[in-house]
Amino acid sequence: MPFMVIIWLGPLLFNDMKGPWIFGYGSLVWQPNFRFVRKTPAYIKGWGRRFWQGSTDHRGIPGSPGRVVTLINQVGGICWGIAYQIAEADSKFVISKLNVREKGGYQLLHTQIYPKEVNEPVKGKVYIAMPENPNYLGEATTENIAAQIVMSKGPSGPNVEYVFKLAEALRKIGVHDAHTFEIEKIILKLR
Ligand code: SIN
Repeated sequence: MPFMVIIWLGPLLFNDMKGPWIFGYGSLVWQPNFRFVRKTPAYIKGWGRRFWQGSTDHRGIPGSPGRVVTLINQVGGICWGIAYQIAEADSKFVISKLNVREKGGYQLLHTQIYPKEVNEPVKGKVYIAMPENPNYLGEATTENIAAQIVMSKGPSGPNVEYVFKLAEALRKIGVHDAHTFEIEKIILKLR
């Protein structure tokens, strides 16, 4: 009888494991808020994490944006985060929910993901806010970035919470991100 159940559920389980991968490097690291079948630390190549994206819908408001992370092109760079595999059956719903969540300037791009717990790279997707988007703020000193973050809050809460939660989640998976940790350190001094 259990054998029959496995045969019956088999296609469903197998299908789930074939679903798309999403790579998260910002809030998606610590707060995915969607259903997934697998989660693992992972990295993508050629990108670096920076607090260069303005947030007017989550951690700031129009006219007084907060700062959240995006990725910048970096030859030889590696960005660590979390890769999630979504069940095929959930993928449309999850992506449409994420498209709304990331609507403040991010676009969904194809990428090669290197999940720690999988022996080979997988094809996946990542939300990146490119410099052409209207909320892009770009480079600033870590002091100025931290000062702006301390002052900012939006519908999702204080901007400092985004930094603290991201830094904590990166530490938990053993990732040292100099840019994020430097901003966290300055914020802690400013408060
Ligand atoms: C991400 O987490 O991968 C995208 C940026 C964000 O939502 O903070």
